[in-house]
Order: sequence, then C-alpha cells, then structure tokens
Amino acid sequence: MITFENVTKSYGNTKAVDHMNLEIPDGEVFGFIGPNGAGKTTTIRLMTGIIQPDEGVIKLNGIDIRKDPMEAKRTFGFVPDTFDMYERLTGMEYLRFMGDMYGVSLEKRKVFTEKYLELFELKNAADQQIRGYSRGMKQKIAIMGALIHEPSIWILDEPMVGLDPQSVYLLKEEMRRHSESGRTVFFSTHVLDVAERLCDEIGVIKHGSLIAKGTLAELRGGEKNSTLEELFMELVEKGE
Ligand SMILES: Nc1ncnc2c1ncn2[C@@H]1O[C@H](COP(=O)(O)OP(=O)(O)O)[C@@H](O)[C@H]1O
Ligand SMILES: [Mg+2]
Repeated sequence: MITFENVTKSYGNTKAVDHMNLEIPDGEVFGFIGPNGAGKTTTIRLMTGIIQPDEGVIKLNGIDIRKDPMEAKRTFGFVPDTFDMYERLTGMEYLRFMGDMYGVSLEKRKVFTEKYLELFELKNAADQQIRGYSRGMKQKIAIMGALIHEPSIWILDEPMVGLDPQSVYLLKEEMRRHSESGRTVFFSTHVLDVAERLCDEIGVIKHGSLIAKGTLAELRGGEKNSTLEELFMELVEKGE
C-alpha cells in the first residue's frame, strides 16, 4: 500500500508535483502515465526518499518515508530510469552488494540469482563490468537488484525503455506475478499500450497534478470503445 497526502515539490517556479493525493492498495499493478516533464520521475524520487517534498506525507505500507527512511526503504525495490551508478562492478558483484545491503541469506541469493540470470539471459555477462552492458542488460540487472530482497512494493521508472520485446514480456510477467502474490507494483510509462493491458489501475499526471485515476473502465466512463491512447489524449489536451 502506498499513500500520498497532499505532496508538493517545486523547482523554482515549476511545480513538478502539485498537491498529489493518491492511494494504491496492495495486490495492484499501478501505471503512472503522463507526457514528458509531467512529474513522473519527481513523484518516484519523492516516494523513494531520494528527494524531500516541500510539503505532504508519503507512506509505504504505512511507514513515512521521511520520518523513518531506513524502515520504509526495506519495503520496496526500485528500478530507476537510468542505471549508471555501479558501472565498475560486474553484474555479479552488484547483485552481491544488493544482497548484502538488504541482508539476504546466501542460500536465497543463490536460488534467486541462478533463476533470473537464466531467465534474463545474463549468465554469460554476470562476470563482466556493467559499463560494457547494453541499455537492456543494465535494465535487467537493475531489475534483479530491485527484487533480490523480495520487496513488498516494486517501483519502476520507465522500465520498458531499452528492453527488447522478449524482455518486455518477461518483465510484464514478473510485474503481474508480483501483484498476484498480494504485493504492489508502481511503474511510470509513456508506452500506453503496455499500460493498457498490464495495469489494474492507471493514474494520469499532467503539470504535476493527478488529473485522473482509476481502472481503464472507470477512466473510459461510458465510452466503451475508446483506447487508453484516445483517453490519454483527451485528458492531457483538455484545457491546453
Ligand atoms: N532537479 C531538477 N531541477 C529543476 N527542475 C527539475 C528537476 N527535476 C525535474 N524538474 C522539472 O520538473 C518537471 C517534472 O519533471 P520529471 O519529474 O522529470 O517529469 P517526467 O518524469 O514525467 O518526464 C519538469 O518541468 C522538469 O523540468
Ligand atoms: Mg521521467
């Protein structure tokens, strides 16, 4: 469960996130969509404690990320939009580091690592430095690093970018599996057809404000045949 209460973050005159109120229940894949510059990454940085809001409260499983950052950070795994912090580590060293950080037992780590290196076809790259990886490979090792401690909440910023179709498919399966086990997935995207098929609920953000939230059927209202793309264009262009 993730809650935002009146969360605001400005950069100079830009309200990157503007009085956001949002509640995402357990067991859901939540897609956060919006045009470039809408405030998706800022929202995610706020919820992961990378930056602090000007006002408002964010709770992860009831834990305030600002008041109790260590405890809150144990609840989630995070896949950022760019992965360039650990370039000198090999994939395996990075996974060991993440496993150590989260206190994952060696046995669990081994089972996890073997399964996902195989699934993501990273076995041969595991002992190479991450700086030599393709964007898709970096994305996949970041996904592994985020899941190694079996977090309750899984947060991803534009996770489909740079992935080949097969990896997108695998990632979507993992996201579904995560939610079906009663846990929560929050991801941002501008790839609407992915969101349409994957999400239990969708939030639409524009100029830092949440302008719509609900299931696709709810967002459609009475109009049964409109696609998410049509809805999105309608919502985002309204008042422009
Ligand atoms: N560190 C920053 N300094 C100044 N402005 C920022 C910073 N980060 C984001 N912004 C601004 O905040 C707005 C939202 O950006 P962002 O959250 O990155 O949007 P999105 O991820 O939806 O593309 C944009 O207008 C962006 O220029
Ligand atoms: Mg972004």
